[in-house]
Amino acid sequence: MTWDPPASKDELQAPLERNLDAWKAGSAFAFTIEKKEDLTFVGRIVIRQTSSPDLWNIGFWVHPEHQRQGYMTEAAQAVVDFGFSILGAKAIEARHAAWNLPSRRVLERIGMVEVEYIPQGFRKRGAWVPEFRMLIRKSEESPNPRRLPQPTGGTPAASAPVAPSSGAAGLSTSRGN
Ligand SMILES: CC(C)(COP(=O)(O)OP(=O)(O)OC[C@H]1O[C@@H](n2cnc3c(N)ncnc32)[C@H](O)[C@@H]1OP(=O)(O)O)[C@@H](O)C(=O)NCCC(=O)NCCS
Repeated sequence: MTWDPPASKDELQAPLERNLDAWKAGSAFAFTIEKKEDLTFVGRIVIRQTSSPDLWNIGFWVHPEHQRQGYMTEAAQAVVDFGFSILGAKAIEARHAAWNLPSRRVLERIGMVEVEYIPQGFRKRGAWVPEFRMLIRKSEESPNPRRLPQPTGGTPAASAPVAPSSGAAGLSTSRGN
């Protein structure tokens, strides 16, 4: 990941507030991933605008206890569908550190292809980390944009505007990334 985990809950407050502001502004939509059966927290995924109006970007993580069970593949597919059908994206990208095979596999499984190698992707602890940029374009068969959902304001799973049609995970519009 490009960032280190927070050292305390207090460090989460400002990013969570920025998530809500971004949702209201329509510039980024962060979702919590939970197990459908008992709402166990699984991870987070965000889709955000880029400087190019038709291009959106996704980023994600899964708690180590729940990795390798297909959750992010399912969640990323749902969020890409959300981007194309509700946000009106024409293309969606993601970047992953060159060493990050799990992330690469998730992106390939949802249909993204490599479009760029970036030797100086991001800096971590004083060193450049190379990245790949992956992309998927909207297919002609995708439906037209629909109405944008509103945040629920902090009751996870109270509403799930882009819940996957099947599978084990659900997405809720709670705060944070
Ligand atoms: C990347 C990440 C989100 C994947 O989530 P996940 O729910 O474990 O992914 P899935 O279970 O849907 O697995 C998708 C693919 O990745 C593979 N994979 C998952 N974890 C792996 C690992 N540790 N080593 C090798 N392959 C792995 C799976 O086998 C599967 O590939 P397959 O289609 O060849 O079987 C998770 O590993 C993670 O949070 N990593 C730390 C944060 C991070 O790197 N975020 C992305 C930044 S770009």
